[in-house]
Amino acid sequence: MKKIEKIFSKNKIIPLDYFLEKVLYDKEFGYYQRKNPFGVKGDFVTAPNISNLFSEMIAIWLISFWENLNKPKKINFIELGPGNGDFCLILIKTLKNFPEIFKSINIVLYEKSEKLKKIQKKRIISGKVSWVKDLKKIKKGPVIFFGNEFLDALPIKQFKEKDGDILEKFAFLKKNKVDFIFKKALRKQIKKLKTFNLIKKNGIIEYPEYGFKELDVVCKKIKELNGGALFFDYGYKIEKNVSTLQSVMNHKFNDINKNLGNADITYLVNFNLYEKYFKFYGLNVENIISQSKFLQKMGIIERFKIASSKMNLEKKSDLYFRLKRLIDPKFMGESFKVLFAKNKNCKFKLAFE
Ligand SMILES: C[S@@+](CC[C@H](N)C(=O)[O-])C[C@H]1O[C@@H](n2cnc3c(N)ncnc32)[C@H](O)[C@@H]1O
Repeated sequence: MKKIEKIFSKNKIIPLDYFLEKVLYDKEFGYYQRKNPFGVKGDFVTAPNISNLFSEMIAIWLISFWENLNKPKKINFIELGPGNGDFCLILIKTLKNFPEIFKSINIVLYEKSEKLKKIQKKRIISGKVSWVKDLKKIKKGPVIFFGNEFLDALPIKQFKEKDGDILEKFAFLKKNKVDFIFKKALRKQIKKLKTFNLIKKNGIIEYPEYGFKELDVVCKKIKELNGGALFFDYGYKIEKNVSTLQSVMNHKFNDINKNLGNADITYLVNFNLYEKYFKFYGLNVENIISQSKFLQKMGIIERFKIASSKMNLEKKSDLYFRLKRLIDPKFMGESFKVLFAKNKNCKFKLAFE
């Protein structure tokens, strides 16, 4: 608890997103700086952890996009928030089978957690891969950004309307326990909500200020150097105006204000808002589709059939259940959505028509 007190040592009351930033990423006690959260022994599993089939399908999409860009001799593929590196390892393995793109590609990993960066550097040994602290450093393009469960890891703000006033959610410490309170929002914050037409009479308004900040440079680079950005996340298209904050530990839900620094805190991504955001910054988003549709368009079922054809029954059924987790609407198939943002003049729309 002493460590949590430190968060509040300068200001007794802090905005929700700043609180989340500290609890998740503080160098000393932030969750992602201390824990390796992935896998059965961790707190949750992500699509690349579930099956290589997922990462292989992204590789296929990437090859098609690169071909659509007329096979540039040099191309940057930037993974935002690479986690334990599972995706990158399979991407390299798959692209090795396609020597032309493998020669051209430069894989850049953008990771905030020093702990995870260490894990990535230990696992990913390849001359093709480098790590970057500042995306502005990427000077030559085209650029293709990819983020799986990246957006939901970026802290959000929450607001609500009451008697004509817009209030913002803050965190504070009460008897050694973190609690939350709504206070009148600053005018500059209200202006931002209005820009995206978010103000509603009832319910909670979620606003990803940290997310937008991260994506500012992504948008600039796509416009400047050509390319696009592909995002997968747990989220929704139609706003329900409820709080979607959730905390997870040991694969179970946890109270938001308990086990701070030992539990992940995320929320559902508002894909409709991100679409508005990309369009506001001059990029194009044709469609937002389900993970199931994307993976099936890329041929995940055919790939499963080939990969499993020589497997014994045990391995085959294991792979089958992993495939099911990725594409069945009862599991991740529908709740996970995919968004592709690209330059306005870009005609590439594989899976997004
Ligand atoms: C939920 S994990 C997803 C990991 C991985 N993409 C996967 O699917 O397994 C979120 C990742 O984003 C990283 N991350 C969060 N905020 C970041 C930021 N602002 N810049 C770079 N990486 C960030 C986290 O450290 C972690 O690696």
